[in-house]
Amino acid sequence: MQVLTLTRPDDWHLHLRDHEQMRAVVNDTARQFARAIIMPNLVPPITRCEQALRYRQRILSALNPAYSFEPLMTLYLTDSLSVVEIKSAAESPFIHAAKLYPAGATTNSDAGVTHIDKIQSVLEAMQKYDLPLLVHGEETTSSVDIFDREKVFIDNTLIKIRQQYPELRIVFEHITTTEAVDYVLSENAKTAATITAHHLLINRNDLFKGGMNPHHYCLPVVKRERHRLALLNAASQHPGKFFAGTDSAPHAQHAKESACGCAGIYTAHAAIELYAEAFDQSNDFTNFEAFMSISGAKFYQLPVNQQSITLIRRSWKMPDKLSFGEQSLIPFKAGQNINWTLTNSNEK
Ligand code: NCD
Ligand code: ZN
Repeated sequence: MQVLTLTRPDDWHLHLRDHEQMRAVVNDTARQFARAIIMPNLVPPITRCEQALRYRQRILSALNPAYSFEPLMTLYLTDSLSVVEIKSAAESPFIHAAKLYPAGATTNSDAGVTHIDKIQSVLEAMQKYDLPLLVHGEETTSSVDIFDREKVFIDNTLIKIRQQYPELRIVFEHITTTEAVDYVLSENAKTAATITAHHLLINRNDLFKGGMNPHHYCLPVVKRERHRLALLNAASQHPGKFFAGTDSAPHAQHAKESACGCAGIYTAHAAIELYAEAFDQSNDFTNFEAFMSISGAKFYQLPVNQQSITLIRRSWKMPDKLSFGEQSLIPFKAGQNINWTLTNSNEK
């Protein structure tokens, strides 16, 4: 396959940060994608609709006017979020989901949910008003091995939420294991999952190849090769249940290359090309369009995009560094060749 033409994709899981940092990255996404689900883990987190709407305005004002891009906003669940807020979110045309971060699971999750029992009425309301629940699926108990946290979360929490709220739409975000793939496949159409480009492209050896590589560190952490292959199989063979969500999560170079480096990988600058590289490994592009552009829209009950994009098999070199406000940002695959090129940007 030398040329790929498909409906313009959406990114169903994206971190844009705020202010100067947001302005530095947002057009990388807007150049490629028509829409993106915007994560609410700012400091302070986006816990009220009114905050989400103001954040949306800041994003819109930072867009290159040539691009036609729509940010789809989300709320950050806490122990004390009210049912009234959920109802307003469900009624808003701009807010599309609420995100469950178990407290302490990842970047800016300290205000997250300490125990699922604390948000029963909120989950009930989300089911009633049909507002999708997005889940960072990792157990946070410190005695649980970091490579097992996703599996333990399924067993201890996700199965329980599903049993209690059978009609709730749930997106299991950025899945990383064969257990998560099997779980999603075992559930009906109310459960889906996003998969990142980096989890399709690297395994845990890449964290340590030639020395410790902080730019391959994200959460959930990348797993063994057999898990990567299970994700590739899920993305390429079961597109209705799995769709693209980059989890592109920019952190300044100094914050990654430090004694306690932050979790997060920046892929937004070349997300579609990176997904094409991953599918190339499966030697099967049959479901590429469904995974990138159709299944997510259907799950979120949004119209599929109208325009199309073209990728050609032509290699280009990823820059060593990007600018990030006053700081620098090291992109995924910095300095390496990328085998696919997106030929048309998301222009109006
Ligand atoms: C994300 C971030 O930096 O906000 N980091 C990451 O490693 N993926 C948070 C998250 O999605 O876990
Ligand atoms: Zn994320």
